Amino acid sequence: MGNMIILGTQWGDEGKGKLVDLLADKFDIIARFQGGHNAGHTIQIRDRKFVLKLIPSGILRPGKIAVIGNGMVIDPIALFEEIDQLTGAGIDVKRQLRISNRAHILFPGHRAMEARLHIGTTKRGIGPCYEDKAGRRGLRVADLLDSDTFTENFEILAREHDTLLRAFCIQPEYSVAETTAIYRELAERMRPMVADTALLLNRAIRDGKQVLFEGAQATMLDLDHGTYPFVTSSSASAGGACVGTGVAPTLIHSIVGVAKAYITRVGGGPFPTESLGAEGDELRRRGNEFGSVTGRPRRCGWFDAPLLRYTGMVNNLDTLVITKLDILDHLDRIPVCTTYRVGDELLDAMPAISNGLSRVEPAYECLPGWQTDTSQVRSWDDLPAAARSYLDFLENQVGVEVGCVSMGPERDQTLIRPGSKFEKLGLKSWA
Ligand code: IMP
Repeated sequence: MGNMIILGTQWGDEGKGKLVDLLADKFDIIARFQGGHNAGHTIQIRDRKFVLKLIPSGILRPGKIAVIGNGMVIDPIALFEEIDQLTGAGIDVKRQLRISNRAHILFPGHRAMEARLHIGTTKRGIGPCYEDKAGRRGLRVADLLDSDTFTENFEILAREHDTLLRAFCIQPEYSVAETTAIYRELAERMRPMVADTALLLNRAIRDGKQVLFEGAQATMLDLDHGTYPFVTSSSASAGGACVGTGVAPTLIHSIVGVAKAYITRVGGGPFPTESLGAEGDELRRRGNEFGSVTGRPRRCGWFDAPLLRYTGMVNNLDTLVITKLDILDHLDRIPVCTTYRVGDELLDAMPAISNGLSRVEPAYECLPGWQTDTSQVRSWDDLPAAARSYLDFLENQVGVEVGCVSMGPERDQTLIRPGSKFEKLGLKSWA
């Protein structure tokens, strides 16, 4: 099967967590490569629900190694809240988790500075932490663990944050001395799990182990390829997996994209197929479309094929997983956006400027609904004919095969398409 990247192809919340949890069984190591606790993977295992923000969902599989890669930013307080939750559920986090010594550390000053950003961010301090990384001021896990220098280095960074906060008339609400003490204590708890994860991953690959690279957020939130400036601050598309782990592109064998059967977005920014009326509200209600990190209602709309063609290209997807098909079960007709127009002009590229994307007029084709409960279907051939036609239509529009479909949060509510590339990757069943 080799090494695989799995990532979101819309604006996040595509249901990657469930897929990663299912796929994790087939891999030795599951590595995250970007983002921080702005992400939120919800995984349901029977009556247990886990919300993972920083730690790769592969941690839920006993014996698997979960890696927090160098491309991530870590709030140690958020990390240990998650570790404590997992440890309480009987998971051997100390044995399974490895944290990159090169990942950046998020401080309260980063959170405070986010007050000046008004693009609907998660307010976790992620953007300002990446700003410090690019500005060569940031402190990394290795710096946190260096007890001889950490206090002094943090004081220098905190003074910088203080100057900026005052300039923006933001009152810092944290004490440097208290933060130093808390972070130093957490550093000691973190120490046994810290590693040179690029070395660990490359050695493991050399020894024949298989790695699953788990994306957070999604391509349309990617700092370069997304709807800038309404994006996150990291590289959430396939290239980010290499930069954020230190594993070369030639060692990646497959790239799996995840998309909802419709589409959602949280926060500000253009959204051509947004459905603002009762139909959008019904998608939100049926799909429980509320942010798992912030609880914000997600904006809902119809499947956007031009957007998927774009993210399919940027990631060179091998196969597509369509999730939450069951949320469309009630509809008698389902609109799918097939093209973008501006006036008489048909667009064949994604506008680079967010104003440009706000101006496009989506053209829709309406497909017949199936108005049958798909959540209990257990084989591809038993899907209603209209549901199969819907998936075939998406596949033809996007130009990437639909190799898998999910119709509910449970592990067994997932169907692999017989004969698909997805199946050929060795993923015949989840057993
Ligand atoms: P930030 O990542 O907190 O800087 O937020 C930037 C944008 O990305 C905002 O529109 C957020 O709502 C969005 N965002 C960040 N993380 C996620 C996620 O996990 N799912 C969906 N949207 C996200």
